[in-house]
This record gives sequence, structure tokens and C-alpha cells, in this order.
Amino acid sequence: MEFPKLRPRRLRRNENIRRLVRETRLTLDDLIYPIFVRHGENTVEEVPSMPGVFRYSVDKVADAVKEVRDLGIPAVILFGITEHKDEVGSDTWSDEGIIQRALRVIKKEVPDVYVITDVCFCEYTTHGHCGVLCGDTVCNDETLENLKKQVVSHAQNGADMVAPSGMMDGMVQAIRSALDSAGFKDIPIMAYSAKFASAFYGPFRDAAESAPSFGDRRSYQMDPANAREALKEVFLDVQEGADIVMVKPALAYLDIIHRVKQMTLLPVCAYNVSGEYAMIKAGGRLGWIDEKKVMIETLLSMKRAGADMIITYFAKDVAKMINSGEI
Ligand code: PBG
Repeated sequence: MEFPKLRPRRLRRNENIRRLVRETRLTLDDLIYPIFVRHGENTVEEVPSMPGVFRYSVDKVADAVKEVRDLGIPAVILFGITEHKDEVGSDTWSDEGIIQRALRVIKKEVPDVYVITDVCFCEYTTHGHCGVLCGDTVCNDETLENLKKQVVSHAQNGADMVAPSGMMDGMVQAIRSALDSAGFKDIPIMAYSAKFASAFYGPFRDAAESAPSFGDRRSYQMDPANAREALKEVFLDVQEGADIVMVKPALAYLDIIHRVKQMTLLPVCAYNVSGEYAMIKAGGRLGWIDEKKVMIETLLSMKRAGADMIITYFAKDVAKMINSGEI
């Protein structure tokens, strides 16, 4: 059969039929909201390059998480900004570290939200790199030792899941064995498996005070030109025991999300990163694009590509639209 009998437009004639044939949906179940916790007290400050995103002192963070819970979002991922930076990032495994303190408060006040912790060092080191330095680069194996201490400390303080983002070789295996030996066999690992050295992280680095003080991250994060290598990274993380794999950034890497989804049976997470958020917010503020529509279209593209869940600064905005029936 062919035109004029075949007419695909029949299934687009009104919203009811479009609803019936819609292949991809955004739901509350897809969303993970990133939260920045900072030192100090009684502070809630907006990130200038990320309008609508705030950094909360520990005494304010429970309210932020309650808001997320009340919107029906199942999970948050925590990032810390500490005033105790040193060469190795020891705040990350201290009981009085920023994340540890935040975890205790959140788990006490809002126990029903799933709390993931970002596991890295760049926000906690004086040089801003993602581990222990060897000359002008990050030493892999020494960094693994510190990663082990960090994840065990997060688990002891109540983290539900850990998400290593430093792109060290062998990090998933090291973390899995550290968690298991410490009695945390049931804490899953979401691996930032295919994390690219991306300029889309710019606003995050303002928010997290984590820009490298020299050089860049290209000796550990991936070259944006490579797709097969991303599959290799995913393959290795699956072998090492990852429970969820992630592709980051998302929007410029939809092909990677799609290919990763085809190759693994694990759930796939997409990280809709700070620069992707900032561009849409900026375009909306200038009146050059319809912010809400572009936001929804962008997040849908990630789901269509194969993401099972999305870490996004838009989570609260989307949840409000879902809850009001707007989408
Ligand atoms: C590293 C980390 C980064 C992001 C998440 N975890 C920054 C980096 O690799 O430089 C970026 C997230 C974003 O841009 O939204 N701890």
C-alpha cells in the first residue's frame, strides 16, 4: 500500500490520538535532582550561571530535599562545596566532611528520598583535579585508595547509592570491593562510565568551585570525538560490577546513549549537565526560545535515545508540569 491510501497524518489529527500513539514519555520516575551543599550556615544562594539552582548550607539542605520529595521526585544526587580543601581532598572521607554532614541531616529529616552521592575529588582539592596529583596529572592507583575511603564513609553516613565521576581506571572494581568488605554489599554503584571532557560543565564548575587550577581534564575524561571508546568504558564498568551506567553530557552525546543502551542490559542514566541547562535558561530569558517547550523536547530526546533515568537541574520544573497536567 502507498499514498494516497497511506497517510501517517491520520494519527496526528488531535491530542487524543497523539496521546495514544506517543512512544516516549517523561515521568516523575525518570528524574534525579542534583543538589549543591555548601559550607557555612543559613545560606541559600543562587548560582549565577544556573538560574533557579541554589547552593544550600547544611542547615538548609533538608528543606531543599523536602521540596523535591513533595514534588514526587524519587532521588537526589549530592555535590559538596567545602572550605577545607587540601592536596588530596581529605574532606571526602572525613566524618565531618560536607557530604557526610548533609547525609546525616537528610537521612534524619527526609528518610524517604533516595540519596545518591557524587564521588570525586575536584571540589575538595586545592588544585581542582579529580584525585591525587603526580606531577601535572592525576595518579590513578593512589586515587583509587582514596576513593575507597570516600565511598565507605558515604555509605556509613547514609548514602543509598554512590556515583563515581572521576574517570579513574578500575574505580568501579575498587569501590565495589571496598563497599563489600565494609559490609555495604547492597549499596549500588552508578558509574559515570562515558564521561567526556566537555565545555558543557562550565556552569557546574562555577557552582561547585571545582575548576582545575591548571591544565584540563583531558588525561582522564574522554575525548568528545570518540564513540567506540565510550562503549569500551561501559563494557569495563559492567565487568567491574557497575549497577547503572551513565553517559555524560547528554545532549551532544545522544548517539552514545543510544549505542550504550543497545549494548548493555543495565539501566542507563543520562546526565543533562549544567551547560545544557544554562543554554536553555539563557535562551528563554532572552525571549529567543520557549524555555519550557525546549526543556521538554530536550529531555524527551534523551529518553528516546534510551535513557532510563535523567539527572537534570530541570527536575523540579518538569515535575511541576507533570503534576499540573501540563504534560
Ligand atoms: C565531577 C563532576 C563534574 C560534573 C559532575 N561531577 C564536573 C567535572 O567533571 O568537571 C559536571 C556536572 C554538570 O556540568 O552539570 N565531580
